Amino acid sequence: MNSEGEVEAEYFSKDFEWEELRSEIESNPSLRHHFQSFSSSSSSSSLQSPQSDVQAWKQFHTRHSTGKFFKERRYLLKEFPELLSSSPSNSNPKLLEVGCGNGSTILPILRANKDIVVYACDCSDETLEKAKEIITANAVDSFKHRFYTFCCDVSTNGFPNWLACNTCRDQFLQKQSCCLSDFKEDNGLHLRESCSSDEFDRCVGGVDFITLIFTLSAVPLERMPKSIKECFTVLKPGGMVLFRDYGLYDMTMLRFESDKRVGFREYMRSDGTRSYFFCLNTVRNLFLGAGFIELELDYCCVKSVNRKKGKSMRRVWVHGKFQKPALQ
Ligand SMILES: C[S@@+](CC[C@H](N)C(=O)[O-])C[C@H]1O[C@@H](n2cnc3c(N)ncnc32)[C@H](O)[C@@H]1O
Repeated sequence: MNSEGEVEAEYFSKDFEWEELRSEIESNPSLRHHFQSFSSSSSSSSLQSPQSDVQAWKQFHTRHSTGKFFKERRYLLKEFPELLSSSPSNSNPKLLEVGCGNGSTILPILRANKDIVVYACDCSDETLEKAKEIITANAVDSFKHRFYTFCCDVSTNGFPNWLACNTCRDQFLQKQSCCLSDFKEDNGLHLRESCSSDEFDRCVGGVDFITLIFTLSAVPLERMPKSIKECFTVLKPGGMVLFRDYGLYDMTMLRFESDKRVGFREYMRSDGTRSYFFCLNTVRNLFLGAGFIELELDYCCVKSVNRKKGKSMRRVWVHGKFQKPALQ
């Protein structure tokens, strides 16, 4: 939402080598505070509660309700061409966009794939309303029955029951303790009762794709494993998470002053919203830890030039594709 996706670069872009950037940064004494270990006593803001980080995002959306931050992420269709496909066996693929903001990721997907059905969630009601407004304003009629929104905090309460895939949920419950919070409460024995009849009418039966685009970095590190587990649970077997987020030593990370650090590679802006900067191993451990298979994972390294200031900026993003194992 800030300046993260302005450059239309694909993940295999390698304007520079990430390892070279790393050694340059780590040998620069003036940047030492970014890679030193972190002790929680160095910042009081690391004690922020779950309510307050979600609250900070809500306030962010209230302040930016003009939709000024909206910029279609068309490049995602090049990075994730599977979003364009529909097969005879699955003529209406289902996509869940987590942390959809104003809908920058959703709109180009709805436009490009006339068969896809999109479920979009965010922790802010206000931004969901804005997303609906923007999507409606751009709507060709066909969007109407292919776009649904719901409000949720993925990092604490998780997704609503009606998104989950029945077959896979049953298997999941047999193998391990379930992480959908409302299933946990009744130990998986009375799942039907835990949904209202209205929710069951809407039951989606699992999604084929999840897009996590600059959303995981907004969640505090300790709540990321829960968020990824939630994604695993609502994906159909064989379904995929399509991931893009801030990479370690991205220019925006190096701009943070040391008093903005709230954890190792974790920062808080003055408005209370957070940003984490991922190395490949952190992303890998989060997804493999939740049971995913890694299909693609790499840094996308792009040099962009600010013509006004004549400055060259090195942007680093992480591109990833992870699959839930198909049922044997
Ligand atoms: C940087 S924006 C990315 C928006 C969008 N994915 C895009 O491509 O433009 C991060 C979004 O995640 C949402 N968010 C932050 N924490 C969340 C949480 N715990 N649960 C759900 N959404 C969250 C924010 O409200 C914000 O809209």
